[in-house]
Amino acid sequence: MTATRPRKRPAASDRRAATESFYRDLVWNLQNGLLAVTRDGRIAVMNEVAYRTFGLQPTPDDIGRHFSDVLRDIPDVARIVAGGFEMSHLPNRAELRLKRTGKVIGYTVSQVKDPQGHVTGVTLFFKDLTRVEQLEERERLRDRLAALGEMAAAIAHEVKNPLAGIEVMAGLLKRQLSDNEDAQSILKDIIKEAKMANSIVIEVLDFVRPIRLQVEPVALPDVVRDAITTADSQVPRRGIKLSVDVPESLPPIEGDKHQLRQLFANLLANAFEALGGEGSVRISATQRAVEEDVGAPAEGKSVAMLEIEVVDNGPGIPPDLIDRVFSPFFTTKPQGTGLGLAIVRKIVDAHDGRIDVTVGPDTGTRFVVTVPVNGNYKLFG
Ligand SMILES: Nc1ncnc2c1ncn2[C@@H]1O[C@H](COP(=O)(O)OP(=O)(O)OP(=O)(O)O)[C@@H](O)[C@H]1O
Ligand SMILES: [Mg+2]
Repeated sequence: MTATRPRKRPAASDRRAATESFYRDLVWNLQNGLLAVTRDGRIAVMNEVAYRTFGLQPTPDDIGRHFSDVLRDIPDVARIVAGGFEMSHLPNRAELRLKRTGKVIGYTVSQVKDPQGHVTGVTLFFKDLTRVEQLEERERLRDRLAALGEMAAAIAHEVKNPLAGIEVMAGLLKRQLSDNEDAQSILKDIIKEAKMANSIVIEVLDFVRPIRLQVEPVALPDVVRDAITTADSQVPRRGIKLSVDVPESLPPIEGDKHQLRQLFANLLANAFEALGGEGSVRISATQRAVEEDVGAPAEGKSVAMLEIEVVDNGPGIPPDLIDRVFSPFFTTKPQGTGLGLAIVRKIVDAHDGRIDVTVGPDTGTRFVVTVPVNGNYKLFG
């Protein structure tokens, strides 16, 4: 057996260097953003989360440079840091939407003081709240839809019976006036209109009813194939080129195959309609891992997601309308009900996913649906 000799104590300078490097690593790896500036306005600390949230690339000479120079593209943050030296009352918790990245941060500003109480610097400590905001927005939308849904369901229910009455009575009259040509044509129109109104009522009732997912492992290529068939039966594709890139190797999604088929059928039908018989549509899917950063116990965990894109090279959506396309009854089509995308959003939300739309000058419209492979499903009304 060999005796272990007590190790020699490291020299004080080595210990200091080790402690310094430990602090550097600690700050760099914090889960929150940290920015510290010395009295003369030079950056002393800026960690990885801060760079990422501000959308900046770290460069070796950032430390020591003036904060107004490093943060020149994010003046809203520079203003807060500058204010930190002046304010006697610093906000304990405030929120800010960064103009550059659109991210929302919750932050505190503190002054660094020496033992004599002189201010030697300012720190900004913050957390990226963007995803929390999105979840809250979704919650608000859910409440709004629930209220709207109750009202729409009540009205639709009341309208259904008189509509059916109109249709039946117009049919009776049509039979009684079989030799009056003018009356026949008018009654035919009445019946047609009543049938159309009835189908809108059925669609509305369908939309406001809460989704109950029948969850099972669903193969995305099958769902996409069925969605194409459904969209084709709704909108004639004519000269439109459709390309499909949905690999069989993707993992199955825990989801509702009928709802998912409806989701992609609605997106494809819109793309076909936007193209009016010529152009191209592409539907493709990839798997990616996304950092889930909200709420324990999922904190810091990476979640497997499927990202499905439906892209067309049609006219796109005007920027002032893009925020409204998911609202129920928003339509720019003479025969549209405006429920297609509202239903899409409802199905995506029920699958705990998200949908984004972008419109480029040359690319037409691009919808991206992101759904978790193993979702955390809820009833969505
Ligand atoms: N791919 C697209 N290209 C251009 N505009 C689109 C596209 N998809 C949706 N839109 C716009 O969004 C609006 C809303 O779409 P949504 O599917 O909700 O309703 P709709 O297609 O008008 O009617 P419905 O689907 O109920 O028959 C459309 O009227 C259209 O203006
Ligand atoms: Mg539609």
